[in-house]
Amino acid sequence: MHQAIPELDFGKIDLSQNILGKSLQYPLLLNAITGGTEISTDINRALALLARDFGLAMAVGSQAIALTDRERRPSFAVVRKVNPQGVILANISALAKPEAAIEAVDMIEADALQLHLNVPQELAMREGERDFAGMLDNISRIAALSPVPVIAKEVGFGLSKESVQLLFSAGVSLFDTGGQGGTNFIVIEDLRQGCFGNELDYWGLPTAVSLAEIISLGLPVKVIASGGIRTAVDAAKALCMGAELVGMAGPLVKHYVHQGPESLFKFIEQWIYRLKAVFLMTSSPNIAAIREKPLIILGHTRAWLEARHIDCRLWSRQ
Ligand SMILES: Cc1cc2nc3c(=O)[nH]c(=O)nc-3n(C[C@H](O)[C@H](O)[C@H](O)COP(=O)(O)O)c2cc1C
Repeated sequence: MHQAIPELDFGKIDLSQNILGKSLQYPLLLNAITGGTEISTDINRALALLARDFGLAMAVGSQAIALTDRERRPSFAVVRKVNPQGVILANISALAKPEAAIEAVDMIEADALQLHLNVPQELAMREGERDFAGMLDNISRIAALSPVPVIAKEVGFGLSKESVQLLFSAGVSLFDTGGQGGTNFIVIEDLRQGCFGNELDYWGLPTAVSLAEIISLGLPVKVIASGGIRTAVDAAKALCMGAELVGMAGPLVKHYVHQGPESLFKFIEQWIYRLKAVFLMTSSPNIAAIREKPLIILGHTRAWLEARHIDCRLWSRQ
C-alpha cells in the first residue's frame, strides 16, 4: 500500500537480512546459473564480485559436472575465492548420491546446499531422467548427512504445500519456490525439440501462489521467493508476504550476455535504489516492518488461493 506520509529518511532504509548465520546487505540471491565451462568461470566470477560488493547471496549452477571431472572445479571454486566471507550455496540434483552432495558443499565451502527439483524439465528433455522414485528418501539421507542446511529448490514450476510438507518431514526447512512466471525450462526444452510440443508451457505454480502455499502452512521454515522476480515491486511484495530473500537468475544471464559484466553492477545498483524507494513509499524502514504492512491479494492469485482454501488474513508473516 502506498503511504503518502511515510515519515522516513531514504538514507536510513535498512534492507539487511540475516540468513544461514551471516548478514546480507540486501535480501537478494543471485540464483543458480552455471559452472563447468570456461565461459561459466567468467560468469561466476562476475556474479561473485557482484555478490561480494553489494552484500548479496549467491548460488552456483549444478555441480554434477565437476564431480565426474575434477578439471571443472575451478569454475565453481572461483566463487568462494572471490568472496571468502559471503553466503554461497552449493547446487546439485535432489537425485544425486549423498556423498556427491557433500562433495559439492566441500568444493565451495558452501553455507547451504540447494537440491534442485526439476521433474518437468527432465520429462521435457528427450535425454532426460525418467525415474523419480525414491527421491524423498534420497533427500532425507542428504539432509541427514549434510554439514550445512539443505534448501529444496524448484527451477521454475513452484513448490506446493503438499510437496513442502513431504520435504519438511524429510528434514528440509529451507525452500526456494522456483515458481512459474520467469525462466521456463519446458519452453526452453521445446525450443530444442523437447517432448512436450508446447502443450505444457503454462505448467506449474506461479511464484506468488507457491510462496503463499508455503507460508500458509505455518511451519518453522524459511522461504526464498524466486521464479520471475524481476522488478523491485515483485521483490517488495514477496518480502511483504513473508519471504526471507528473493532470487533472480534469468535477468542476470541476459545482462551478462547482451550488455557485458559491467552492466550487472548498474542493473543491481538501480534495482536496489528502486527497492529502497518502494520500502520508503510503503513506510517500511526494514524487512521486519514490511511484513507487517497490509497484504492485498487480487485477481488470479486470489482466485487460486481461494480454490486452495488459503486465507492470507490467517498467516503469521513473522
Ligand atoms: C541459464 C540458466 C541456468 C540455470 N541452471 C540452473 C542450475 O544449474 N541449477 C538450478 O538449480 N537452477 C538453475 N537455473 C534455474 C534458476 O536458478 C532459477 O530457479 C530459475 O531460472 C527461475 O528464476 P528466474 O525466473 O529468475 O530465472 C538456471 C537458470 C538459467 C536461466
